[in-house]
Amino acid sequence: MTKLKKMPKTPKVKFLRAIKGVSSDMLNYSTEIKKTLGDTAQIDLGYLQLYASSNADFIKYVLQTNQKNYGKSRAYNALKLGLGNGLVTSKGSFWRKQRRLAQPVFYKKNLENLFQDMGRSTTEFLEYLEGKRGTTIDISREMMNVTATIVLRALFNVEQSESLDQIYKSMDVTQEYLMKIIGNPIMQPWYKINGEEKKFYNAIKDLDQLVYTIMNNRRDSQEKKNDLLQMLMDAEDADTGEKMTDLQLRDELVTLFSAGHETSSNALSWTFYLLCKNPETIQKLRAGINEKLPDQRMPSFQDLRELTYTRQGIEEGMRIYPPAWIIGRRALEDDEFNGFAIKKDVNMLLEIYGMHHSTTYWENPEAFNPDRFSPEVAKKRPKHHYLPFGAGPRMCIGNHFAMMEMQLLLATIMQRFDFELDVNHVVEVDPLITLRPKNGILLKVK
Ligand code: HEM
Repeated sequence: MTKLKKMPKTPKVKFLRAIKGVSSDMLNYSTEIKKTLGDTAQIDLGYLQLYASSNADFIKYVLQTNQKNYGKSRAYNALKLGLGNGLVTSKGSFWRKQRRLAQPVFYKKNLENLFQDMGRSTTEFLEYLEGKRGTTIDISREMMNVTATIVLRALFNVEQSESLDQIYKSMDVTQEYLMKIIGNPIMQPWYKINGEEKKFYNAIKDLDQLVYTIMNNRRDSQEKKNDLLQMLMDAEDADTGEKMTDLQLRDELVTLFSAGHETSSNALSWTFYLLCKNPETIQKLRAGINEKLPDQRMPSFQDLRELTYTRQGIEEGMRIYPPAWIIGRRALEDDEFNGFAIKKDVNMLLEIYGMHHSTTYWENPEAFNPDRFSPEVAKKRPKHHYLPFGAGPRMCIGNHFAMMEMQLLLATIMQRFDFELDVNHVVEVDPLITLRPKNGILLKVK
């Protein structure tokens, strides 16, 4: 048997740089590692070993080809505190059963039904933005609010907007806390002392109360609504006829909100930013929209397919700033890749951002060029060089929902408004669980 090679490893003496890199500076740190060790390496933190890779074939191997040997990394356990055992955090046969139940909810026919309510939220947002003409807005804050409204309405088609506001507030507290303990686990004991942990558990209590109340009201009223709650409540296992318990429903609903809101918001915010920095792309985008949707007509579900340059703009936005910029996995058993040994239990960072910025796969990767995603160009590229929604069986279940929402918002906003970047405001990336703009993105609405 041929002897397996050891992964190139970061030097022990530089473990302090490694700790800082992994906890708060991963984008720069991975560029540094790549220069000396290549695109797949072992990070030696002393107390912990990690593999980090921006190699497209390695990422595909872990997420897809040999996915059976790779579970979610330890960071996902912290998410369980808020999301419970939903699709993002569950594993094994439980996850498979839940995914089978939830998958049909995202079929085209259902998305088409959900599109109506998305249109309503979009119209309300356009009216709100009308009142902001001449002022400067933080587009990332605005996108966070509108995508939250859209996904909450898709989940719970409830009339009382106070319930949605309350859910949003509790989710916000929950997510902030989870982000903190995942990014900086050693601070967790301090949060017990300074009251943040208590605030988190209170928010979870409020959230659960709201979600269970909506579920119970729905059952009592026997009214059938057109939302994800209804579809998940009605979903039956094809073999056993079993439905989800209330706890499973709660976990899936909270998971869908959490996974589906900030990701789309970040993708849109960065796309606005990139478009503003490249005005020629705005002209092209607007020309395409005006041709398909004259007189500021709102797009129908069918129109979205034809808004090709709008879609390409979003795809290129997610290449440069992938919201899920890193995906975590853990080897369940010893394995090998290209002659290199992969050790059981080692956590790995699959660097989607690094892969999307690699000159191995992309020509002039820092340039914003939506034409990379024209059908002719895209079909010549191996699919796994671009993975904003992940790959394999754990690939994003909401990818079509997200694309529909993002196209609708970008097209209708660009149809009506022009924006100018505030040149005095420094825009920086903040690589947390998702890739956020650190201090927002300030745009003047024109
Ligand atoms: C631009 C928007 C979005 C991006 C970039 C994105 C990205 C991703 C990625 C990369 C994964 C795979 C994570 C992994 O393998 O560990 C994922 C999973 C997931 N996403 Fe999304 N997502 C987006 C929007 C949405 C939306 C709108 C929803 C729901 C309404 C959603 C629900 C989920 C769920 C439930 C999972 C877990 C799937 C499973 O493990 O079975 N996502 N997403």
